[in-house]
Amino acid sequence: MVKAVVLGAAGGIGQPLSLLLKNNPLVTSLSLYDIVNTPGVAADLSHIATPAKVVGYLPPDDGLKKALAGAEVVVIPAGVPRKPGMTRDDLFKINAGIVRDLATGIATTAPKAFVLVISNPVNSTVPIVAEVFKKHGVFDPKRIFGVTTLDVVRASTFVSEIIGDLSLAPSVTVPVVGGHSGVTIVPLLSQSSHPLPSSISKEDHEALVKRIQFGGDEVVKAKDGAGSATLSMAYAGAEFAVKIIKALKGEKGIVAPTFVNLSADKSGGDALKKEIGKDLDYFSAPVELGPDGVVSIRSLGTLTDNEKELVKAAIPELETNIEKVRETQSKYLLVTLTLLYRAYPSLHRPSSR
Ligand SMILES: NC(=O)c1ccc[n+]([C@@H]2O[C@H](COP(=O)([O-])OP(=O)(O)OC[C@H]3O[C@@H](n4cnc5c(N)ncnc54)[C@H](O)[C@@H]3O)[C@@H](O)[C@H]2O)c1
Repeated sequence: MVKAVVLGAAGGIGQPLSLLLKNNPLVTSLSLYDIVNTPGVAADLSHIATPAKVVGYLPPDDGLKKALAGAEVVVIPAGVPRKPGMTRDDLFKINAGIVRDLATGIATTAPKAFVLVISNPVNSTVPIVAEVFKKHGVFDPKRIFGVTTLDVVRASTFVSEIIGDLSLAPSVTVPVVGGHSGVTIVPLLSQSSHPLPSSISKEDHEALVKRIQFGGDEVVKAKDGAGSATLSMAYAGAEFAVKIIKALKGEKGIVAPTFVNLSADKSGGDALKKEIGKDLDYFSAPVELGPDGVVSIRSLGTLTDNEKELVKAAIPELETNIEKVRETQSKYLLVTLTLLYRAYPSLHRPSSR
């Protein structure tokens, strides 16, 4: 029995993702939560002849709490998508608040659930979830994941296109590490299960790396104001969620790149920090998954000089994205304290004792 929950289930990603989860026989219960439309989406999906019982919830009557009760896997695609000209970082201001509120719901109702964060910017929203869990005393770094699978999926597709045989796409695997925005996305093409043609020029190789890093922009531009990747993201999100569910059910040897807190596996995380030459708290690396979440954080393996440069270039932006959460928290605390002092000036006075 596996209960999966989608938070933001009525959105562009949420609906097809919920369809793919409903279509998976490993899921026996599927709760859909959003601020709009979930009763309709749930009614529609509930007619599909697969095992999962689907229920839709809205905010009134403790909807979030009811959706999350007993959840094992919670996927979060709630938030605002990117519009042309917006960076993932521009989304931070809006999505940070949405993710913080949903994380509070999970921390208080389903603190043991695996949390799969899709809402962008993933490099910052994952630390936000972690901070909320820490605040509630339920932080377990083994159970919080940033979903970077779309970068992996794009790498498989684009590499098979270059090889000239799209039928290979499902079996091409390329580790993509670092983070989940622009230059923080580092495809390790030298470790592709299917090597690139040896005739590939330096320019074409660079263009391929850029296409994987900025594949999201291709979709944002083509949708011309109607949002960002939804269908490919739903596919990628479901692929990662199913890996998590299989690991939860005891399947061994499942490894996938995902953005995690490096304390999830102390020795693996410390080794990775040495490898990248930076003491970052979060990084996307190949992670072995098990019934309790992260089993081990794997090494990046042997990198080419070019890949070493890409990792180096990723670090400053990653550091800023992660640090941003701390800064926002301090500001948030300052504003809260200021408002409190304004409302209750006596709090400000030193105690007479
Ligand atoms: N990780 C990735 O690779 C990746 C790829 C594409 C998009 N994204 C991100 O996924 C998010 C969703 O994108 P989309 O295209 O589905 O957007 P969308 O606007 O179509 O859907 C978002 C949904 O979230 C809901 N929502 C908003 N606030 C909520 C709240 N407080 N509680 C519950 N639900 C809430 C909205 O009602 C809407 O249904 C965006 O942040 C986007 O940037 C991530």
